[in-house]
Amino acid sequence: MSQNFALFGNPVSHSKSPYLHQNFAQQFDLAIDYRKLLSTPENFKADVRDFFSTGGDGCNVTVPFKEDAFALCDILSPMAARARAVNTLYLNAEKKLCGHNTDGIGLVNDLLNNHKTDIANRHVLIIGAGGATRGILGPVIAHNPASVTVANRTYAKAQQLAAEFADLFQVHTCSTSTIDTPDKPDIIINATSASLSAELPVTDALLITDCTVCYDLAYANEPTAFMQWASSHGCAKSLDGKGMLIEQAAAAFTTWTKLTPTTAPLILEFASA
Ligand code: ATR
Repeated sequence: MSQNFALFGNPVSHSKSPYLHQNFAQQFDLAIDYRKLLSTPENFKADVRDFFSTGGDGCNVTVPFKEDAFALCDILSPMAARARAVNTLYLNAEKKLCGHNTDGIGLVNDLLNNHKTDIANRHVLIIGAGGATRGILGPVIAHNPASVTVANRTYAKAQQLAAEFADLFQVHTCSTSTIDTPDKPDIIINATSASLSAELPVTDALLITDCTVCYDLAYANEPTAFMQWASSHGCAKSLDGKGMLIEQAAAAFTTWTKLTPTTAPLILEFASA
């Protein structure tokens, strides 16, 4: 009997998740059905309840429902609790709705495993202080960076986020107009939504050396504006979020099935797409 998974989002038709999860399932000869389900803010709660009451085994949640999913859960993983957003839902043995967030794990696994980029003892600069940054901060901090700085256009939001993580780590903050980090950043992560409108969230080219790894959580068919800017200022490793997409899906698959799929073939396939 096949297992039933789904992705809730709006829009959702563009999603590659069914393709990724079918690839993972094939690695274990597992029969799965993975559907894309368009929802609305009004119906999301009922749609999720409906999915699980009609035999759903697990679902992913994407924009704009990750905070709604967080609010629905009976039980949250520590990462989801920190992120205040959920991208992976399932029922436990007591039929309680459990929520996890695999976005940050996806980023970290992509950096460590696919790009051989350590976080430990590195200076990390994260640009943006919205939901995406909240989702990745916990997993980044867990890998023992030398420092983490959150830079944001609206400075108060960076300060607010740093305060939320103060019990875990001393997160530095600054405005994107005056980047101020404890040391030259080794890794610069663009976690703003600026790429969606082809805008640059930061323009201080002095930040970049040929050793800096620049990572845009966004991805498109062409390099994003941030990646192009980084490359044009000497960055040798300018990455987009395709690997993170694959790795967050793999972590969700593992959450549901307890199986750990190989991601390398998909990473290669998407890199050359
Ligand atoms: P998400 O959930 O994708 O993180 P969000 O919570 O709306 O979305 O946050 C968007 C982030 O991108 C914010 O940090 C925002 O900066 P502000 O807090 O100042 O609004 C940042 N952002 C969006 N467009 C930007 C731009 N053109 N330049 C710089 N930062 C930008």
